[in-house]
Amino acid sequence: MAKSKIRNIAILTGGGDCPGLNAVIRAVTKTAINKYHLNVFGIEDGYRGLIENRIFPLTFANASGILDVGGTILGSCNKSNPFKFPVKTASGKTVMQDVSDLCIQNLAEKNVDALICVGGDGTMTSAADFAKKGMPVMGVPKTIDNDVYGTDTTFGFDTAVYTATDALDKLHTTASSHHRIMIVEVMGRYAGWIALYSGIAGGADVILMPEFPYDIKKVCDYVIERGKVGKKFSIIVVAEGAKPKGGHMVISKTDNNSPDPIKLGGIANVLSEQIGHLTGLDTRATILGHVQRGGTPTPRDRQLGTMFGYLAVDYLMKGVKNQLVILNDNHPGCVPLAKIRGKIKTVKPNDPMVLAAKAVKTSFGV
Ligand code: F6P
Repeated sequence: MAKSKIRNIAILTGGGDCPGLNAVIRAVTKTAINKYHLNVFGIEDGYRGLIENRIFPLTFANASGILDVGGTILGSCNKSNPFKFPVKTASGKTVMQDVSDLCIQNLAEKNVDALICVGGDGTMTSAADFAKKGMPVMGVPKTIDNDVYGTDTTFGFDTAVYTATDALDKLHTTASSHHRIMIVEVMGRYAGWIALYSGIAGGADVILMPEFPYDIKKVCDYVIERGKVGKKFSIIVVAEGAKPKGGHMVISKTDNNSPDPIKLGGIANVLSEQIGHLTGLDTRATILGHVQRGGTPTPRDRQLGTMFGYLAVDYLMKGVKNQLVILNDNHPGCVPLAKIRGKIKTVKPNDPMVLAAKAVKTSFGV
């Protein structure tokens, strides 16, 4: 095999933060230095730092002692698409501009031969666009939502499911003591992975997800039926992107300067009102929010982050480029960024977890 010409690599973490990012940064840095004697640069705050030329050396010293630390030592940003970046004109108007050439120039100044982009679908879309411009890129799939297309799983998801399950366990006691309907809203954007996995692990009675629009009457009938057989409380897990049949998702705010302008949130409050009104039962809503993105990564996320980080460097040095490192049927591999660009992975009706939930009589409100 031809010797790789790569001498200098850079890494950035884009999109929403999640547990396990530091495991990737550590693995990339240590693999690159240890195994391949490369120079490694860290880019601050995702693509924003690349646009603003905030690039600094990563060494054993600054990539050490971070494996169990949540967040990202590099910082992140989910508002900076270099191909559509908000710039103020002389007249004070904000216009969207392609500033990707500036990014390439900033990388060239440091003689960066390849870029590792750690992120979700938005980060991968820009990574694919940089690959098209001739910059060798490797993607690493990150997100609590588990919705990155092409991979079995993303790091960050396991920790979020753990946090949500812990919350469900804790809410069970109040639900049971007060004979209440507890509605717990979890994140996940347009995919119901966190709701499905935490709902199963936390013994939820009802799981509502964007993939299966619900019928509110069926949800109410289900909790009333439970009451008739002595179960005077119910736990409902609802994904932030869940919506009723023929209805819409609940939007908490819109940010037009973000490549992902729609912020979901608030469906638990809507359901609490409706279910309380329709059943006469005492209902409460809990919105878990960003707590799902925080904290110490689980062992699984540290392992996944370490393996993905190592793979990204190893593939690059073997001459592979412009791919996303993945797990496919539990085997490490990679898929072309161009193939996954703009796609997300959602829950299918025949997913084994959906079938298992149905088998134990969990309702999806359909
Ligand atoms: O993609 C991760 C995520 O936490 C989603 O689950 C959620 O919809 C979104 O990010 C929230 O974004 P922000 O941090 O901008 O509020």
